[in-house]
Amino acid sequence: MHYHALTLALLSSATSTLAAQPYSTWMATSFLSKGQKINNHYVANVLYEGIQKAATFQKNATLLATASKAISSIVSSNGTIAGYDPYYYSLDDIRTGNNILYFWDSEGRKEKKYEIAAAALRDQLNRWPRTPTGGFWHRDPTYPNQMWLDGIYMADTFYATYTSYFDVDNTTAWNDIALQFDLIESHTRNKTSNLLQHGYDESKKAVWADPVTGASPHVWDRAVGWYMMALVEVLQVYPKNLSGYNRLKGYLTTLAEGVKKAQDTSGGWWLVMDEPYPGKKGNYIESSATAMFTYAYLKGVRTGLLAESYRDTASKAYDLMLQKFVTQEKNGTLSWEGTVQVGSLSGNASYEYYIGVPLSQNDGKGAGPFMFAAVEMEMWKGS
Ligand SMILES: *[C@@H]1O[C@H](CO)[C@@H](O)[C@H](O)[C@H]1NC(C)=O
Ligand SMILES: *[C@@H]1O[C@H](CO)[C@@H](O)[C@H](O)[C@H]1NC(C)=O
Ligand SMILES: *[C@@H]1O[C@H](CO)[C@@H](O)[C@H](O)[C@H]1NC(C)=O
Ligand SMILES: *[C@@H]1O[C@H](CO)[C@@H](O)[C@H](O)[C@H]1NC(C)=O
Ligand SMILES: *[C@@H]1O[C@H](CO)[C@@H](O)[C@H](O)[C@H]1NC(C)=O
Ligand SMILES: *[C@@H]1O[C@H](CO)[C@@H](O)[C@H](O)[C@H]1NC(C)=O
Ligand SMILES: *[C@@H]1O[C@H](CO)[C@@H](O)[C@H](O)[C@H]1NC(C)=O
Repeated sequence: MHYHALTLALLSSATSTLAAQPYSTWMATSFLSKGQKINNHYVANVLYEGIQKAATFQKNATLLATASKAISSIVSSNGTIAGYDPYYYSLDDIRTGNNILYFWDSEGRKEKKYEIAAAALRDQLNRWPRTPTGGFWHRDPTYPNQMWLDGIYMADTFYATYTSYFDVDNTTAWNDIALQFDLIESHTRNKTSNLLQHGYDESKKAVWADPVTGASPHVWDRAVGWYMMALVEVLQVYPKNLSGYNRLKGYLTTLAEGVKKAQDTSGGWWLVMDEPYPGKKGNYIESSATAMFTYAYLKGVRTGLLAESYRDTASKAYDLMLQKFVTQEKNGTLSWEGTVQVGSLSGNASYEYYIGVPLSQNDGKGAGPFMFAAVEMEMWKGS
């Protein structure tokens, strides 16, 4: 009896201490306590970007030092990124460049090894296999002539940030970045729903390729989430005096309308977003895309790209995440639920395929974007 009461008192005091923290750093600290390690894979990098954003906004120096040391640990003193093969072409592997550039910039732009590492990723894009019209292949040799929405986020956010720092007058590079968006837009955007199918095959050889557009048949929520974040991030650095700027902004504003229309009354978004699948058997509200859209709306509004009214859209989604996807463990740490493991165009890309992929707990592809969204929410609310 006594022991029980003491345990409860200890537990509730641990819980309330932690609960006094903002969600961003609370989730960050929780993931570190689960032993979340860094590597050059995009999932860890997205998660660490969440930790880094949380630490920076909440001014938690311990947490920021942890994220900084983690990135530093995968870049050797000569600028080699651990595990990175410059002759393996997979857009997912470019994402790590964003984490590297963040610390290069925020720590005074003096770390030479980060410049070398970023330049190697940038050089690789000059050799990248492309579709006949100039789109980066999602992966060579696995996905020839295919562009996926996911890849736009993985590579073009880095391409744009790198260009803004080191090569800002390279109009060819800026046009090339806009071209990646133009191509995916012209092949995958549904002009009625304003949503985009997962990807397309310019050679139309994939089993799922539409005979006219080459597009895959479904709108997969996380792919659209990556893409909407990519538009918001690239527009932060894209020169306003180049014609690509207004095109990208148009892509974002029309996509924002489509995504809002597709929002479920609960505040979240369905795994398979295209009609008539929302609400259909096997489909469900998925957490990673819900986090990504929340972030994209909030940052889009904060930076003047999107109308203020989208804060309501984001608030509804954020409330759902706190209620349904963020869970509190007995020891006071947070866990993250409801993220689908994967969505790939390696198979038949059918509705049955997407809904058959299992969920995973504490998945960085969801928890990272949740931290992005939490930081934006904390900026908005002022704490
Ligand atoms: C800062 O982060 C550290 C490491 O994750 C954590 O232990 C600490 O509670 C955080 N401090 C605040 C004030 O949130
Ligand atoms: C808290 O509990 C979770 C879930 O069991 C565990 O993964 C984590 O390592 C624990 N954290 C601490 C600080 O004990
Ligand atoms: C750079 O450092 C890494 C790790 O220490 C090493 O494996 C690699 O051979 C070095 N590369 C060059 C070009 O010196
Ligand atoms: C400018 O960008 C283009 C396209 O990426 C690239 O081929 C070229 O090497 C870049 N120019 C310089 C000076 O870096
Ligand atoms: C485009 O979206 C509309 C509205 O959801 C839908 O009726 C139509 O079938 C879609 N077109 C394609 C090609 O998927
Ligand atoms: C666009 O503006 C930037 C400065 O913001 C300048 O460096 C660049 O030369 C301009 N480019 C063109 C094509 O006018
Ligand atoms: C597509 O693949 C899924 C498994 O990923 C399978 O359940 C389904 O039957 C396949 N559909 C067709 C038309 O082959």
